[in-house]
Amino acid sequence: KSTGGVAALKAQRTPPADLNEREAMRAYYLTVRRDSEALAAPLAPEDMVVQTMPDVSPTKWHLAHTSWFFETFLLKPHAKNYRPLNETYDLLFNSYYQQVGPQWLRPHRGFLSRPTVAEVMDYRAYVDGAMLELMEEAGAALWQKLAVLITLGLNHEQQHQELICTDIKHVLAQNPLSPALYTPPGESASAPALSWSEFGGGIYEIGRDMDPAGFSFDNEGPRHEILLRPFRLASRPVTNGEFRAFIEEGGYQRAPLWLSDGWNAVSEGGWQTPAYWRRADDGSWREFTLHGEVPLDENAPVTHISLYEAAAYAEWAGARLPLEAELEVAARGLPLEGNFLMPQRDGGAAPIIHPQAVNMSAASAAGDGPQQLFGDVWEWTASSYSAYPGYRAPSGAIGEYNGKFMCNQMVLRGGSCATPHGHMRATYRNFFPAAARWQFSGLRLASDL
Ligand code: AVJ
Ligand code: FE
Repeated sequence: KSTGGVAALKAQRTPPADLNEREAMRAYYLTVRRDSEALAAPLAPEDMVVQTMPDVSPTKWHLAHTSWFFETFLLKPHAKNYRPLNETYDLLFNSYYQQVGPQWLRPHRGFLSRPTVAEVMDYRAYVDGAMLELMEEAGAALWQKLAVLITLGLNHEQQHQELICTDIKHVLAQNPLSPALYTPPGESASAPALSWSEFGGGIYEIGRDMDPAGFSFDNEGPRHEILLRPFRLASRPVTNGEFRAFIEEGGYQRAPLWLSDGWNAVSEGGWQTPAYWRRADDGSWREFTLHGEVPLDENAPVTHISLYEAAAYAEWAGARLPLEAELEVAARGLPLEGNFLMPQRDGGAAPIIHPQAVNMSAASAAGDGPQQLFGDVWEWTASSYSAYPGYRAPSGAIGEYNGKFMCNQMVLRGGSCATPHGHMRATYRNFFPAAARWQFSGLRLASDL
């Protein structure tokens, strides 16, 4: 099946307002699928096979798993005469859907030299061919169902685009050659002085609204009322320079600043800085980035910290972490703009997959409230990832997507420099275990009024 004419299509990273516009859905599908391949383009096949810890998946696994998602939830149930390319791929590329079947052990994803990268690319093309055919041939009744699932599949693929970035960063960081995928972005503008915005207490509504046109994940609903005390939020995330002061004042050595689990993690992990920081011979700080090893940008938001480090910093600063509802209240209604991932397409600009200091022109567009609530770094919250009142996971295997992880993880808000442009919302709930620090995670201070 031909996917020709792709270059001519306008990049479409959000679902069309009307899912019945098949041509727009097709453009959306092709844009997101090609974006994943664009992220893999600067990688060598050898890069795409390595797994450096259980949380990290090889790039080729992400490229295959996202295709398996379309095969499993769209093609097998809905495409007449669809034949899987390889029956064993179900075992290899099912991530965690117990109702679909058994899964290859996650920590062993890096054991697989086969299928090769080239074979994974063939798998992608095979699935794309069948998907385009299905999109063309589906009758009106089936289309309604397909359009919803395709939108989910593409949002799923965008989540894996972010994981491709963070996972390959972990892989390349282990390598003493300090490989750079992109040219260094240079130091960002100086960070504006920290100020605070005040919010009144009261009953607020949070969660996805029932706008049927816009996509959201099931875990963003139901919309419901919550009670907030009066609070204030910092105007921007904590910077590397500020976090360095915490380190220099012995932050990592002062047990009273830390949550109990955090103190254990610091001791066991030997943590003394955020991940990827390196000390040069002359004592200056450097950091490993997807743009190679560069001087630490003092003005950029601190990133690659666990919830524990975020909470210890907030304690040291005489503040606290925000609640997820506080960040949602502050973010709603703001333009969904920020330093998000824009994969390089059709000879366009190379992406900057690294947090930047707040851009003041973008800041003024957001008004005089907190800036940079979207993009650059995910912001850890003090809210554990649990079900909103009235939440029920959808039935069937697709219900395993988000609901079954609602235990022992914390919510992060706002998206990062590795979150695809068009993928974010004010109601979006990301979640990771408190010790995770290979994502682009940072923090913003909050306090009570
Ligand atoms: C929401 C980022 C925690 O990494 O497992 C990917 C995203 N869900 N495939 C994850 C996801 C299904 C999810 N996080
Ligand atoms: Fe997945």
